[in-house]
Amino acid sequence: MPEQREYAGRHVVVTGAGGGIGSAVAGAFAAAGAQVSALDRDAEGLSGLQAAHPTVRGVRIDLTDEAAVSDALERSVQGCGSIDVLATCAGVLRQGRITEMSREDFDTIVAVNLTAVFLAVKHAVPHMPDGGAIIHLSSVSAYAGSNGSWAYTATKGAVSSLTFGTAQELASRGLRVNAVCPGWVDAGFTHQALRTTPDPDVLHAAAREAHALGRMARPDEVAEAFLFLGSPTRASFITGSELFVDGGFMIKR
Ligand SMILES: NC(=O)c1ccc[n+]([C@@H]2O[C@H](COP(=O)([O-])OP(=O)(O)OC[C@H]3O[C@@H](n4cnc5c(N)ncnc54)[C@H](O)[C@@H]3O)[C@@H](O)[C@H]2O)c1
Repeated sequence: MPEQREYAGRHVVVTGAGGGIGSAVAGAFAAAGAQVSALDRDAEGLSGLQAAHPTVRGVRIDLTDEAAVSDALERSVQGCGSIDVLATCAGVLRQGRITEMSREDFDTIVAVNLTAVFLAVKHAVPHMPDGGAIIHLSSVSAYAGSNGSWAYTATKGAVSSLTFGTAQELASRGLRVNAVCPGWVDAGFTHQALRTTPDPDVLHAAAREAHALGRMARPDEVAEAFLFLGSPTRASFITGSELFVDGGFMIKR
């Protein structure tokens, strides 16, 4: 666990903070003393986060809207000062065979999972001081693929590549850029899959089988990786890296 108030006096922006993992990430930074700006389109998710962490500043926003992103980040800086950490956690998952997926669904996946990441970085970086950190939420699926989720996995692969390239570019600005790659997490997307599958027991068994540790991750276990990578002292020499929080998913392949 980090020092109790390790992030006191620091401003952390979390996108997708109304969702399962994003909410855990935002809550963990708030509990560590950060002033958190939580961005999401889901008002209910943001309210739940704020109920647990009243200091969090919730911003309802469509992260694919460039003008809205630019405006929200500008306002967050006016309220909380420069952005020390940007954590991008928003995402969507839509499945379908490549011959059947609509152009509209494909464009939505790319817009949220990749374009919105680009927009957040583009408009956050001018507000980030030397020593700042950017952390993206990628996935083991960037490397392992996933039957039926090829469009989603393609965007996660792109986020990992974006991490490596921007880490090189932004090093000269004193910023570190890393990604976190979870396996299955007991959160939004997995819950969505469990709701729609004909036999949830089969999915639970697959989750146990997929990970060496025999279970999926809790969202707070993923959030710990964000706290570590965001720290200018503990992760000061880490950039262009990915931290796999996957319970041994990759070593089983
Ligand atoms: N759940 C998993 O097993 C798992 C595993 C690996 C990686 N991930 C990644 O974790 C992230 C979050 O996943 P989750 O399981 O918590 O899902 P989730 O659905 O609970 O969270 C996603 C959040 O993104 C928000 N969002 C989507 N589109 C938006 C938009 N246009 N504007 C603003 N907000 C938008 C949603 O409102 C939601 O709150 C995703 O990036 C996903 O790829 C999840």
